[in-house]
Amino acid sequence: MHVFALCWFHAGMLLFLTRKGGCLPCVSCSAAEDSCSGSKLICPGGLIKCGTAQTVNTTGPRTIHKFCFLPSDCIYKGPSTFNVGKSGIVSSRLFCCNEDECNHYFPDIPPISTTFNGITCPACFGLENYTCNEEVIANCTGDQDYCLDMSGTARTGPPVAIKGCVNKVVCDDFKKGMVFFAGVHVHGVGTCLPMKAISGKAGYTPELFALSLPVLACLLHVKILP
Ligand SMILES: *[C@@H]1O[C@H](CO)[C@@H](O)[C@H](O)[C@H]1NC(C)=O
Ligand SMILES: *[C@@H]1O[C@H](CO)[C@@H](O)[C@H](O)[C@H]1NC(C)=O
Ligand SMILES: *[C@@H]1O[C@H](CO)[C@@H](O)[C@H](O)[C@H]1NC(C)=O
Repeated sequence: MHVFALCWFHAGMLLFLTRKGGCLPCVSCSAAEDSCSGSKLICPGGLIKCGTAQTVNTTGPRTIHKFCFLPSDCIYKGPSTFNVGKSGIVSSRLFCCNEDECNHYFPDIPPISTTFNGITCPACFGLENYTCNEEVIANCTGDQDYCLDMSGTARTGPPVAIKGCVNKVVCDDFKKGMVFFAGVHVHGVGTCLPMKAISGKAGYTPELFALSLPVLACLLHVKILP
């Protein structure tokens, strides 16, 4: 399933909630294009921010998603960048505002760098499952200095598995329990590790020196034994 389907799950859930009434009107639309214009949506209680989520994908279309959001969603605003291997590199940004129908404007997403940065991570992306197969080794680009391996659920329910190279924004968000992936908020657990390219060597290791010293000492000890 295309990741854009997540937006439609989100839209359906919001429309369902909206029938229960609310107050702030926001522009509501989704499109696999640069912009969209849509109807006015009266946001349900709790979703008191208007927002525009924009996503760029190196292997697919730019998508836009305008809706009502929770104030806590607006903390996870990106720009978050994920390289999930075969499903490409996606970068998302969320703009939130408080006025009636204020979500016309959105900040542009910086272009995705395609310059290899010396780091590689196992990568895959799966929807409707907590695990993903079809794993590849992704070549991280630009500021994707971290390897993420997480499974969780999108706001509106479907299980999601995400592995790949990510930028610092994603890792910081992950530690708070939620990431902003392809325009959708995903709660989950797993690991997000800073990686370091070792110059002049083909391999790369996690930057876990403090944690791994006893292990390293043990390995060295084993190595010098006959
Ligand atoms: C990027 O776009 C391609 C083509 O539409 C799609 O197959 C892929 O799932 C998208 N990747 C992500 C992570 O959204
Ligand atoms: C979910 O994962 C299980 C176990 O790996 C697999 O058998 C199943 O086909 C997967 N389902 C989907 C929708 O990918
Ligand atoms: C990563 O780069 C290597 C060397 O250029 C290439 O062979 C490999 O296919 C790349 N991996 C991906 C997932 O694009």
